[in-house]
Amino acid sequence: MRFAERVNRIQVSATGAVMAEAERQKARGADLVDFGPGEPDFPTPEHVKQAAIRAIERNFTRYTPTPGIAALREAVCAWHRREFGSNYTPEECIISVGGKHAIFNALCALVDPGDQVIVPAPYWVSFPDIVKFAGGEPVFVPTVAEEGFRLRAEAVEHALSPRCRVVIVNSPNNPTGAVVEPEQFERILALCQRRGVWLLSDETYAHLIYDGRQPFSAAALNGAKSHLIVVNSFSKTFAMTGWRVGFTLAPAPLVEAMTKLQSQSTSNPTSIAQHAALEAAQGPMDFVAAMRAEYERRRARVLDGLRAIPGLRCTTPDGAFYAFPDVQALLAGRAADTTALARQLLEQEQVIVVPGEAFGAPGFLRLSYALAMERIEEGLRRLHRFFAAARAAS
Ligand SMILES: Cc1ncc(COP(=O)(O)O)c(C=O)c1O
Repeated sequence: MRFAERVNRIQVSATGAVMAEAERQKARGADLVDFGPGEPDFPTPEHVKQAAIRAIERNFTRYTPTPGIAALREAVCAWHRREFGSNYTPEECIISVGGKHAIFNALCALVDPGDQVIVPAPYWVSFPDIVKFAGGEPVFVPTVAEEGFRLRAEAVEHALSPRCRVVIVNSPNNPTGAVVEPEQFERILALCQRRGVWLLSDETYAHLIYDGRQPFSAAALNGAKSHLIVVNSFSKTFAMTGWRVGFTLAPAPLVEAMTKLQSQSTSNPTSIAQHAALEAAQGPMDFVAAMRAEYERRRARVLDGLRAIPGLRCTTPDGAFYAFPDVQALLAGRAADTTALARQLLEQEQVIVVPGEAFGAPGFLRLSYALAMERIEEGLRRLHRFFAAARAAS
């Protein structure tokens, strides 16, 4: 079958492929420990679910305006102001079908063939493919484990060519959990303003940060708005991945361009999900704090457990819910790369991890700790057994 070149340019999301394999194994009755999930294991809060039920009962089941209902755009701006100290109006806000859709629309609205987009690596799997779909060229800026994967403005400046249109910053980062320090953010923003380049700040994990850090948005920086695109999502903050609601805050002309694109593709995000999101944005945030505290407890256990494996090194992630250990030293004589290693782990121990190659980081594995502590303990036991057997055999 022949397909359009734009589809041949991209690949199925590697994390999606891992999820599909986990589903197949579960259907066969395998006792899996699944460190794969890129989503909270908590249910959506009750008051949010009730708002959706009320929306159905009141027949909010029709088309809505393409960029979202006015009340939600208003509430998102108010929530963002309250949580991060920003200053956006509803005309500068568009609601999309998840954060991924928001990023897709923003990049498709801005990137022409031949344009470059800076993507710090390790990166979330979808950034390069969305850039390629838009006809652009991803330019990777490496961050390294020795520096906690922290992105520095000099590295961005070094990679910034006259063909660059957008710089993507994802803090906290998926997969490393690294946070970009506010002063580095400030310098990256200033650089973008000087060079007339957009800064796309993916703040999907902004509320999931540890060690007493406060949620931060680039929108809080002085004079940020002219070159800044903020993308965030209800998915991780409110445990609402399946509802598919995300948003963009950006200058009104860009919001209009994204609305045009959305009007000819998905139209509005689901009416019912918008009402659920409205309740989430206006409701209490204590649930988020409780979820964050639990992730922090799990992070400590996962780090202890992983670091007790001889030869494995793991930086402390500042946020998100992933550990990103360096297993390079454990590959020798055992597996050609982490994709092969992940396959062995699945076959021999029924443990699912995501190989680093998916994130542009060969030699690393991503382990999500969005799973119950009891499963984390079982997974760590199996990982220790797996690597001990490998040591004995070598
Ligand atoms: C860094 C990052 N950005 C954006 C998203 C998009 O999430 P959603 O489309 O569910 O809002 C994800 C989801 O995994 C992510 O990890």
